[in-house]
Amino acid sequence: MNVAALLTEERTAVESVLEWVLPPETAWPVRLHTAMRYAVFGGGKRIRPILARLACQAAGGNADEITPAACGLELIHTYSLIHDDLPALDDDVLRRGRATVHVAFDEATAILTGDALLTLGLEVLATHPEGERWAGRRARATALVAAAAGPAGMVGGQVEDLAATGALDAPAGELAQRLERIHRHKTGDLLRASVELGAVLAGAGPETEQAFAAFGADLGMAFQVADDILDATATAKELGKSPGKDEAVGKLTFVTLYGLERARTILDDLEARLGDRARQLEGPGGPLADLVHFVCRRRS
Ligand code: IPE
Ligand code: IPE
Ligand code: MG
Ligand code: MG
Ligand code: MG
Repeated sequence: MNVAALLTEERTAVESVLEWVLPPETAWPVRLHTAMRYAVFGGGKRIRPILARLACQAAGGNADEITPAACGLELIHTYSLIHDDLPALDDDVLRRGRATVHVAFDEATAILTGDALLTLGLEVLATHPEGERWAGRRARATALVAAAAGPAGMVGGQVEDLAATGALDAPAGELAQRLERIHRHKTGDLLRASVELGAVLAGAGPETEQAFAAFGADLGMAFQVADDILDATATAKELGKSPGKDEAVGKLTFVTLYGLERARTILDDLEARLGDRARQLEGPGGPLADLVHFVCRRRS
């Protein structure tokens, strides 16, 4: 199966579960549920739940059994996008090809919609897969995702991203270290947690879990380097978000620090290393290798 067909099939599997995980718009509180659904169903590549499913399969598990838990990741990711776009953070008006939540609704609703998606995501993770036999794996998976999204993970990375904005005159060595840390946490941690969740729910032992986590961490870094490159090279139509913002506001990114050409070389090197890691995890010709290629070469 080619990568486009694989992703379409995977997205369908994820979206049908997202549909029942999210309360209907008609349920109280209507405005909140409407905004949650607006944010979640406004497009989106669904990379994190797909990664969890593929990692689960590669580690010997059944992807369909863990899809609700994988959707918990997508809810948490969507919360992070809503808050990332707020006026106090990146102040963006376009996301997934539509007006951001604070524009389409209002700022208070956007903050609360983010809160609601984060907490619902954790509830879904803490309760799925259902049944007593999953209790141990479920608890471990929930804890690892919460830690990845939390202060020493994604939120910490976001804080440092904001602190570094407009501070590009520090010594180059310092900026390089800072950039690595921002990307590893603001984006890398949740992608790493997605891969790790798949392995943990598949019942992988500590060594296998570690190998999947290392692959996920590198993939997370590559994902954000690609995001930096797309901000500088893609159109709003391709991206579904406003390009060119990183340079305009002085964000510390692989493009603003190293330039486009070097950022592309760094991404090529990461892709080669990730291809090797994917083959070690799943053998030759597996879907994780296809996903690596997609993440590194995507145009949206
Ligand atoms: C965007 O994530 C935010 C980053 C971490 C770079 P995605 O590129 O996965 O966004 P969607 O979910 O496809 O909209
Ligand atoms: C965001 O990084 C990472 C998140 C935790 C949401 P960016 O700010 O570069 O993401 P985009 O470009 O707005 O999607
Ligand atoms: Mg940001
Ligand atoms: Mg942003
Ligand atoms: Mg970006």
